[in-house]
Amino acid sequence: MKSVSSEFLNTNRERMDAFSSSFFQHPNLLLSPPPNKSTTATVTSPHSPLFTISAVRIEERSQSTTKTKPATPRQPQKPETPLSSTTTTTTRIASPTTSPTTRIQTPPVGTTSATRRTPELSIPFTIFNAFDDIINNFIDPPLRPSVDPKYVLADNFAPVDELPPTDCPVIEGKLPPCLNGVYIRNGPNPQYLPRGPYHLFDGDGMLHSLRFSGGRATFCSRYVKTYKYNVERQLGHPVLPNVFSGFHGLTATVARGAVSAGRILTGQYNPINGIGLSNTSLAFFGNRLFALGESDIPYQVRLTPEGDIQTIGRWDSDGKLSMSMTAHPKIDADTGEAFAFRYAPVPPFLTYFYFDANGVKQPDVPIFSMTRPSFLHDFAITKKYAIFADIQIGMNPMEMIVGSGSPVGSDPAKVSRIGVIPRYAKDESEMRWFDVPGFNIIHAINAWDEEDEDAIVLIAPNILSVEHTLERMELVHALVEKVRIDLKTGIVSRFPVSARNIDFGVVNPDFTAKKSRYVYLGVGDPMPKISGVVKLDVSGEQRQDCTVGCRMFGPGCFGGEPFFVASNPESRDPADEDDGYVVSYVHDENSGESRFLVMDARSPTLEVVAAVKLPRRVPYGFHGLFVSEADLRSCKV
Ligand SMILES: [Fe+2]
Repeated sequence: MKSVSSEFLNTNRERMDAFSSSFFQHPNLLLSPPPNKSTTATVTSPHSPLFTISAVRIEERSQSTTKTKPATPRQPQKPETPLSSTTTTTTRIASPTTSPTTRIQTPPVGTTSATRRTPELSIPFTIFNAFDDIINNFIDPPLRPSVDPKYVLADNFAPVDELPPTDCPVIEGKLPPCLNGVYIRNGPNPQYLPRGPYHLFDGDGMLHSLRFSGGRATFCSRYVKTYKYNVERQLGHPVLPNVFSGFHGLTATVARGAVSAGRILTGQYNPINGIGLSNTSLAFFGNRLFALGESDIPYQVRLTPEGDIQTIGRWDSDGKLSMSMTAHPKIDADTGEAFAFRYAPVPPFLTYFYFDANGVKQPDVPIFSMTRPSFLHDFAITKKYAIFADIQIGMNPMEMIVGSGSPVGSDPAKVSRIGVIPRYAKDESEMRWFDVPGFNIIHAINAWDEEDEDAIVLIAPNILSVEHTLERMELVHALVEKVRIDLKTGIVSRFPVSARNIDFGVVNPDFTAKKSRYVYLGVGDPMPKISGVVKLDVSGEQRQDCTVGCRMFGPGCFGGEPFFVASNPESRDPADEDDGYVVSYVHDENSGESRFLVMDARSPTLEVVAAVKLPRRVPYGFHGLFVSEADLRSCKV
């Protein structure tokens, strides 16, 4: 069942990390059109003499005629379960708007690919596709490994088809009673194999869910039906540019920018509807479940009783939410509030906001004291404050013209800062910034207010060799630090808590914004491949390794971000903080099989108490969460 095989690729991987950006296809040389819509294609490349992809849809087709019918979408392994077309919503879902000239009819909520009509492809559509091919072949071919699809989509990074709800056997142990609900994980899964440069962050979001109900485990994989996904699905061709990989260097930027402008002017897509991929994470707040990507606003999704995943649509909180929102909102389990932000390449570079317990968005708090555009993927909250990191990765358009070619890069001369603002601030007047040289976090794990002290503590992996973050992730080391900020003196103290390369950290979700003792993280081998899980006890103040639990998945086996599921979600006893289970999808590259592992969080070996065999491999992805049955039943849809 191995989907991608190449010894060369296995030894020459180039990988990137699990985030996408608010900042921002030579295929004919690489991807020969298959003789038919086969699920197997042979790919030649300048790097590898032979590269075989199997079980992956290849949608390369001739662009030489104006009446070419779009390629038949990849067929699911089983007939698609029809999605409800009578879904009603009690919340405002931002409706896609199309220009009068567009030929695109975005499917209504619940429409399946089976109901798509065949579009008539216009002359402009064909012309712009030809321009794309010229750019991809001659102006900006995917020569760098970080954007070469042969590397980026090798092994278990290769995309899979959608899969309707499918029952799965428990092959080891017994599922604990608290696993009553659904585990869902997001990740990039390009609808079409890239025709040019492709970065890991550029893939369409696909959700992989495992629903536990009535003693059954049901697995399902569905794309988030974003505006981009639907437009390209109908046209049978990539249309929107790959934001992360498509604008490298001035010439490529100008060329692809011109093609994009042409496509917009001829009505092929309308950026007002959002160009996000929704491929990064999920969140549950305000009795709604969302798929998230930071270059767009949330997409509301729902789980059906049968275990299927439906995309409800873009959610703008009754028109109050615009542009974009972080993929890492922080949910206070005690209050039900959700805290979030967006960042932008133009002022205000940072805007903070939150949602009340009903999911009603509160006014924006623009942060003008963020004076340069910084790469802000994550943040943290305490009961009193919101905490942001102004790191050395930012946007530098001049670098694109005279430097490396990338508009996003690191600035070694910049001093990193931590910004602290009251979490219910109406404006930034009380925001304080603290210089923290060399502190570059992509993810934050947790933070809290120190009792009886005017201080806060932040737990986060500091990215060493930050200059490699976007292009050479395998060279990055994520060193988890405990950072104490004395708000009275302004002194910032830092304590490394493990020497390991670990990231994708989580705590018991009930302890978000509260003092937490235990942290669960993935072991980078290298990032973003996760070869094991560690549990840290960060309660001490000594500079020592705080590992108190560890499980490595074994040779050739890789998981993802761990997630903690409490045995008793109702308990607020700090002694019960680690009473629960650590769960993750784990893929065996030797057998090509994937499993869902349930590990005892209190066991020093993170003992596996149950394993579910999944019906087919689950590609490596980004962030996930567990939603209880009670929360699923409370969903406002
Ligand atoms: Fe992330």
